[in-house]
Amino acid sequence: MTDSRIERVKSLIKDHPDFPKPGILFRDIFPVLRNPAVFQELLDVMVEQVKAKAPNVELIVGLESRGFLFGPSIALKLNCGFAPVRKKGKLPGEKESVAYALEYGTDIFEVQKEAFKPGQSVVIVDDLLATGGTMKAACELIQKVGANVVECLVVIELTDLKGRDKVTKPCTSLITY
Ligand code: PRP
Ligand code: ADE
Repeated sequence: MTDSRIERVKSLIKDHPDFPKPGILFRDIFPVLRNPAVFQELLDVMVEQVKAKAPNVELIVGLESRGFLFGPSIALKLNCGFAPVRKKGKLPGEKESVAYALEYGTDIFEVQKEAFKPGQSVVIVDDLLATGGTMKAACELIQKVGANVVECLVVIELTDLKGRDKVTKPCTSLITY
C-alpha cells in the first residue's frame, strides 16, 4: 500500500533476528504503539480499510493477543461491537473451539458463543499474517458459531510464508515483507 501514513508505520517496525527461535525474523509492532501520532495514523488507515472492504460490518473480532491492540479502537470508531478470539482456557461461559498450527508451535483458540449472531458480518483483525494458520483457524471458528467473515485485516503480511493461500476469505494487509 503506497500511503505515507503506512510508510511511517513501517519505519517503526523493528526486526529481531532469531526470536523467539533460531531462524525466525520477528517483526515487532510495539514501537508503533509508543508513537501516538503514528499509531493514530495506523488506526485511521485500518478504519478506512474496514469501511471500504466491509461497509456492512457488524462485529470486529480481534485475535489474541496482538489483534487486541487494534480491534477495540476500530470497533469504537465504526460504532460496532468487539469480540475476542482467545487461547484456550481464558474465556468463561459456553464456548466454541478450534485447534491450529503456528509458525512456531500449536495452540487452541476459543470464542464465547453468546458474542455471535447467525449470519452476522464479521471482520477479523490481527497484527500479522505469517503461515496463515492463525487466521485460517479464526475463520473456521467464526464459521462454526454461524457468523460470516466478510474481511480479514492485518497490519503485516510475511509473503514468503504464503499464509494468504490458506485463508479462503478476503484478506487485506497494509505492509508486506
Ligand atoms: C502471532 C501473530 C499472529 C500469528 C500469525 O501471534 O500475532 O496472530 O502469530 O502467525 P501465523 O500466520 O503463522 O499463524 P502469536 O501466536 O505469536 O501470539 P501472541 O500475539 O499472543 O504473541
Ligand atoms: N508471528 C508469527 N510470526 C511472526 C514474526 N515473524 N514476527 C512477528 N510476529 C509473528
